[in-house]
Amino acid sequence: MEMVRIFDTTLRDGEQSPGATLTLPEKLEIARQLELLGVDIIEAGFPISSPGDFESVQAIASTVTKSVVCGLARCTPKDIERAGEAVKHAAKPRIHVFCATSKIHREHKLRKGKEDIIRISVESVKQARQYTDDIEFSPEDASRTELEFLKEICEAVIEAGATTLNIPDTVGYATPKGYGEIFKYLIESIPAIREKGIILSSHCHNDLGMAVANSLAAVENGARQVECTINGIGERAGNAALEEIVMALRVRNDVYKVDTRIDATKIYPTSRMVSSLTGLVVPRNKAIVGQNAFAHESGIHQDGVLKFRETYEIMSPESVGIPQNTLVLGKHSGRHAFRTRTQELGYNLTEEQLETAFTRFKALADKKKEVFDEDIEALIDDQLEIGQEVWTLVGMQVTAGSGAIPTASVTLRDTNGDLVTDASVGDGPVDAIYSVIQRMTGVTCKLLDYRIRAVTHGKDAQGEVQIEIEHSGKKLRGRGLSTDILEASALAYLAAINRLRSAAAREERMHPQLSMEHP
Ligand code: KIV
Ligand code: ZN
Repeated sequence: MEMVRIFDTTLRDGEQSPGATLTLPEKLEIARQLELLGVDIIEAGFPISSPGDFESVQAIASTVTKSVVCGLARCTPKDIERAGEAVKHAAKPRIHVFCATSKIHREHKLRKGKEDIIRISVESVKQARQYTDDIEFSPEDASRTELEFLKEICEAVIEAGATTLNIPDTVGYATPKGYGEIFKYLIESIPAIREKGIILSSHCHNDLGMAVANSLAAVENGARQVECTINGIGERAGNAALEEIVMALRVRNDVYKVDTRIDATKIYPTSRMVSSLTGLVVPRNKAIVGQNAFAHESGIHQDGVLKFRETYEIMSPESVGIPQNTLVLGKHSGRHAFRTRTQELGYNLTEEQLETAFTRFKALADKKKEVFDEDIEALIDDQLEIGQEVWTLVGMQVTAGSGAIPTASVTLRDTNGDLVTDASVGDGPVDAIYSVIQRMTGVTCKLLDYRIRAVTHGKDAQGEVQIEIEHSGKKLRGRGLSTDILEASALAYLAAINRLRSAAAREERMHPQLSMEHP
């Protein structure tokens, strides 16, 4: 069966989703998981965009061995040099060079003519070839580019050494028929594509909700690489969702007749990990990975499924890694059973991570009668949300209720190991907790978003709090998990403040941010 390459850009285009900034250890965790999932290419970041991005691409390049690791660059010598430096230690390095080609981008953004655009693209591809033979070129806004010019620039960059041609629908404007026809036209009119074995790639945004349909139309018309993100996260309305493309190609193989190397049973754990670490919640009705994707509510459907599953299910939840055996472990379960369950859930923890998770699991099992798969997932995801711990919660007492003035007394430990205790009143218990933490840490910030959910059902369920704060124009997320929702609220707030501190410390170590205006 012919294979379509999966190019995952969760860590580059996906991370461009507003509010989805990830730390370096978080990006590394996701990259390892993407490799386990079986993606062919990981676009790890845009090295010139910030020192942090450069460092992350470099770290991922040194860690990942099976997947190709790719860094993005505009058509400038400095961009390509940074991308080349960032991926140079990868087992399989790729540089992805892009330059806008549509009339609207040429005239209003780049203020350059067609000849200049071809010239800088060719020079850039040639420069990138000095670092690696694996070069991808994207004519940005390709779907709104005149076909003749698109053909011309594609021919020129192939001649200069590009090995993959990506055809982005940058603004999500394409329709499946029109987008598919672009691929057909390029393949039929550029003999070098066949002669040199050039891979054509799709890259679709979801502004009209057609990113997946457009990607599949590209595959039907000869694309053999699809660019996508986990849960469809990305700029504005997002990118094409990896899980939807992979499962569409697999379930409707009778139509598409191509497959991918993705291990579909790792889809759900990867989706969970990306959602937890980015803070971007997966909608309940999201295809493949949403909470309702396999839930049958209507009596007629339930009756049908009980009699014969395929009456209403076109794929099984197990096939995408959704755990079915939800009640798993209790307080007498041992390390071995816990390790096996984490592996079944798709996690590949180091000994150290497993030990920490096991200790937290035991503490949870003491508080909760039944520990479900969702509890274990939440616990591990929480643990993987790594930031440098500056402040730790040691203890907390809260008074609230009708007639009482909400008051919180909090004890924290700072990095020197010193204990500090303080108290404050507030409009409610959470406000009181957040006020006292602000005073103790000296970090004043605005609470932009506060969300709480029960991880499982039952009165003793763990509560998960996700928040977003803003400090000096910077937005940061925090997540807290506890059977006590006020404690979860405090933990989420501290996680966000610790994240802020780590980011500030890292920025101090590194150079100032470079301008991202188009040259
Ligand atoms: O959407 C887009 O055009 C991009 C390019 C950088 C490939 O993300
Ligand atoms: Zn994009």
